[in-house]
Amino acid sequence: MDVVQVALGARSYEVRIGAGLIDTAGAALLPLLHRRKVAVITDETVAATHLMRLAAALEAEGITMTALALPPGEGTKGWEQFARASEWLLEQKIERHDVVVAFGGGVVGDLVGFAAAVLRRGVRFVQVPTTLLAQVDSSVGGKTGINTPQGKNLIGAFHQPSLVLADIGVLDTLTGRDLRAGYGEVVKYGLLGDAGFFGWLEAHGPAMIGGDTAARQYAVTRSVQMKAGIVARDETEEGERALLNLGHTFCHALEKATGYGDRLLHGEGVAIGCALAFELSQRLGLCAQEVPSRVRAHLRAMGMKTDLRDIPGDLPGAEALLALMGQDKKVVDGKLRFILARGIGEAFVADDVPPGLVRRLLDDALALR
Ligand SMILES: NC(=O)c1ccc[n+]([C@@H]2O[C@H](COP(=O)([O-])OP(=O)(O)OC[C@H]3O[C@@H](n4cnc5c(N)ncnc54)[C@H](O)[C@@H]3O)[C@@H](O)[C@H]2O)c1
Repeated sequence: MDVVQVALGARSYEVRIGAGLIDTAGAALLPLLHRRKVAVITDETVAATHLMRLAAALEAEGITMTALALPPGEGTKGWEQFARASEWLLEQKIERHDVVVAFGGGVVGDLVGFAAAVLRRGVRFVQVPTTLLAQVDSSVGGKTGINTPQGKNLIGAFHQPSLVLADIGVLDTLTGRDLRAGYGEVVKYGLLGDAGFFGWLEAHGPAMIGGDTAARQYAVTRSVQMKAGIVARDETEEGERALLNLGHTFCHALEKATGYGDRLLHGEGVAIGCALAFELSQRLGLCAQEVPSRVRAHLRAMGMKTDLRDIPGDLPGAEALLALMGQDKKVVDGKLRFILARGIGEAFVADDVPPGLVRRLLDDALALR
């Protein structure tokens, strides 16, 4: 097991990474509990495959578990299921000193974390992430929230978990598509701040996706170390944390355009967004010609979506996509903020990108469809 500390003073917590951690989750939770009772919220897919194991681990420590399974998928991360989960927690008589467990992917983690943030003005919660995306990214750092018709993650709160248990064994049951979507966030860490890690991924990414446990352990741990470091230095995204949004301005517009559904998963949008961000950086003369090609080549080699033409169905034009970016919460004073790069592992925040250049980039990408 690897342990990464998220150093946030009184709100510090551990991210534990290893195979089989679900089987000892009861013992891990016990020190946090005032009474031996927890409420677990999950989704129906995770409940069917892994909830019994979590229940057994809790029972082994005499912890009573009550569980709610929400429908799987991004569509769940909205007002309706948020209200359902919040009211269910109240019905279960979850009190201020109790602990809520988010057991699932990023959808469950974000929604349950937000419910915990506002339930009785805030109760503690534990993340037990079950997707690659959630293990390397969404379970760490305390961003919680839901989507609204106006855009993604526009309603939410910073609420740090008290513990994160990332059992890499559960990644075995993910579909290949969900695994690859999570890989979009893994590769993001190399691209934004660690060229050596990107090189490691070029060599070992295929083994990691293929199921190599040691490669998974390293990739998840290295990703969490990077995220934990950034979060500890800039918890509420006043500066450096924005780098984690590499590819996300494009991604959020594409997700909105495709209706937050099966056509484009979040991690797939991140991979396409990263490829576009490097292309934009190159067009601005910030990085060498071969850099975006190297990024795209690796994503392709991993079987990832890389270009707008990989998204099935119609997409709006460049102007409409730009307008969708304008809704993004990273807009400052009406100007679009992009994360650009001077090379692999050298990302920075840029507030002064000419909109015309972005429009041309999108026009060119759409023309290839
Ligand atoms: N809070 C943050 O900092 C942050 C960061 C990145 C992404 N996110 C959010 O995360 C969400 C995406 O998360 P996701 O990709 O995990 O999606 P998800 O939660 O929808 O999970 C993807 C699918 O995998 C299934 N699943 C989960 N675990 C499984 C397992 N072990 N075996 C088999 N199937 C399993 C789920 O039922 C679902 O169908 C987005 O809403 C995104 O905005 C948040």
